[in-house]
Amino acid sequence: MIVSPSVLSANFLNLGNDIEMINQSEADWFHVDIMDGVFVPNISFGMPIMSALQKAAKKPLDVHLMLKDPSLYIAEFAKLGAAYITVHYEACTHLHRAIQSIKQTGAKAGVALNPHTPIYVLSEVIDQLDLVLLMSVNPGFGGQQFIANTLNKCAELKQLIIKKGSSALIEVDGGVTVQNAHDLLLAGADALVAGNTVFSASNPSVTIRLLKNTGA
Ligand code: DX5
Ligand code: ZN
Repeated sequence: MIVSPSVLSANFLNLGNDIEMINQSEADWFHVDIMDGVFVPNISFGMPIMSALQKAAKKPLDVHLMLKDPSLYIAEFAKLGAAYITVHYEACTHLHRAIQSIKQTGAKAGVALNPHTPIYVLSEVIDQLDLVLLMSVNPGFGGQQFIANTLNKCAELKQLIIKKGSSALIEVDGGVTVQNAHDLLLAGADALVAGNTVFSASNPSVTIRLLKNTGA
């Protein structure tokens, strides 16, 4: 299982320590939530934190753009070291073009689906994607409760990926816990984002290891 701890839940007074904890842990990626206060009802952080991550993080930056017009910022996040750039289906009128723009930067291309958005909307682009991010809470905040229907969506997405011969990874984001990780693995998830579960744990690195070894 790929584990992507969400920096949104880190301690910003000691961000360097939390970045180093992730560097030293068994985590695979850094999940970076960029929120504009328009597409989602919250504002997280932007380029200065991304730039700090680029300097200090020793693992790929998995950037989740929760922006009304993500296409405007694809090139800039690529320049700031994003390995994966994920845009929301709901924010892209020209999704195909947005995917091509991400790929032109050399980053891997992801598309995120909100909880209400059905899987079939990706059927004509799934073969071009490196990642599909399934929101398992409504985007905007860490620490929310997992929406159980995500398990059905995950299984349906896995079928679509197989049917279309896509190599896209399935990433689940929101309310992931050590308890629901195994069900997500069985449903076809390849990557788990974890904010609250990691950063509110008494031992974050051990929690990362538990998520990493899901199903082992
Ligand atoms: C929510 C963000 C998530 C968030 C997950 O909009 O996309 O990445 O950080 O946090 P938890 O794991 O606490 O639900
Ligand atoms: Zn996210």
